[in-house]
Amino acid sequence: MDIRQLFSGAQLNQTVQVRGWVRTFRANRFMALNDGSCLANMQCVVDFDQTPEEVLAEINTGAAVEVLGTLVPSQGKGQKFEIQVDSLRILGTSNPDEYPIQPKKHSLEFLREKAHLRVRTSTFAAVMRVRAALSFAVHQYFAEHGFYQVHTPIITGSDAEGAGEMFRVTTLTAKSAADEIDFFGKETNLTVSGQLEAETYAMGLGKVYTFGPTFRAENSNTSRHLAEFWMIEPEVAFNNLDDNMDLAEDFIKSVLAYILEHCQEDLTFLDQRFAEEEAKKPQLERSPMGLMERLRFVTENEFIRISYTEAIDILRNSKPNKKKKFSYPIEGWGADLQSEHERYLVEKHFTSPVILYDYPAEIKAFYMRMNEDGKTVRAMDVLFPGVGEMVGGSQREERLDKLVARMRAMDIDEEELWWYLDLRRFGTAEHAGFGLGFERLVLYATGMTNIRDVIPYPRTPLNAAF
Ligand code: 4AD
Ligand code: MG
Repeated sequence: MDIRQLFSGAQLNQTVQVRGWVRTFRANRFMALNDGSCLANMQCVVDFDQTPEEVLAEINTGAAVEVLGTLVPSQGKGQKFEIQVDSLRILGTSNPDEYPIQPKKHSLEFLREKAHLRVRTSTFAAVMRVRAALSFAVHQYFAEHGFYQVHTPIITGSDAEGAGEMFRVTTLTAKSAADEIDFFGKETNLTVSGQLEAETYAMGLGKVYTFGPTFRAENSNTSRHLAEFWMIEPEVAFNNLDDNMDLAEDFIKSVLAYILEHCQEDLTFLDQRFAEEEAKKPQLERSPMGLMERLRFVTENEFIRISYTEAIDILRNSKPNKKKKFSYPIEGWGADLQSEHERYLVEKHFTSPVILYDYPAEIKAFYMRMNEDGKTVRAMDVLFPGVGEMVGGSQREERLDKLVARMRAMDIDEEELWWYLDLRRFGTAEHAGFGLGFERLVLYATGMTNIRDVIPYPRTPLNAAF
């Protein structure tokens, strides 16, 4: 049995066996063991008279041990059970002078350098368990709502977002002969989105979603950008933008409700950590809610929905605080919003998740449906406090002539996307979808502040260690 099972279902005075890693060993007697199954350590009381000295000397933080003993009510505070050790075996030693994860608070920056060991800390283990639970909740939500998962290609010839921030995939090298043909006989890249392929499947299976890695070579060294991140992209035939907003809102609420129900121990721990971190900030910058509180707030309240044009009006008449203006002034209708503007809207003005829709066509991708005004497209972004853009989506342009015109205007290769245009030739219909950046969801759910701390091995500019 793992420690989580022991805490939840084991009989007292049973003989039990546990294997895990030593977190602390005090007074040659109290060994806190963790096996990763849950946050809590199992306190194991070692009989030092019966334990050979060379074994005692090897019970160090980080060592792997196997314990056989009796489960008894705990003497100590804060836990129900402990194990009275009958026998103990060292499975793998850990030299205390070399093991970097000591039983003290390490900085997140230090732990990023030790990403292969950081999951042995309470914080990272809790974050990664919540991440796994969210991933499960994502699949469960779609399965229960009649969606089929599609596996879209990782290597692709098309730039779905038309932003050109792609990683080239090639077998050619500097030594290749000038006439050598590349592996695929054409230029290929790592995908920036599975959307275009997902659209083709939605126009056959009706409701589909992808959940896979995506890659962007944008040089944004921020706490919210990764070069490799996981994206969830549902796509639904016969849906319009309102349906799409409803889906995004219901989906996010549902997966957050799932972890509130199933990850209580980890979230309680992360909530405490969040409170400690917030307390270090100046009063004005502190989150008005605790972690659990803000998760419940999202699940219980409706998201605010306003158009881009309304948002611009609000921002024009706002000052982020008494003295300062925005560092990027609101340039007027048509300009893209900076993250400080988005943050102002969600964190100061509405203090709620906000869905902005109907953006100017110029700042959005080619595939979004043109509105009657000929200026705005049926786009939507879901903005979250502390995280900014969590979701980007749209109703797709289903009219062939309008789509082609837009592609020409934006210099998008029609030849390359012939198959995408075919969808508009054969049985075209309204359809819509969105992309949710999974790490941004995990950021919000765990109260962590840097996206590098919610994925096991972050890839960012100049960093692909591990
Ligand atoms: O807004 P984006 O670029 O939209 C798309 O890719 C569409 N094809 C989605 C669709 O309609 N099917 O990206 C979607 C989301 C963003 O809202 C953000 O949460 C996340 O992906 N994202 C990133 N997350 C981490 N690091 C990055 N560099 C990200 N870029 C986008
Ligand atoms: Mg976007």
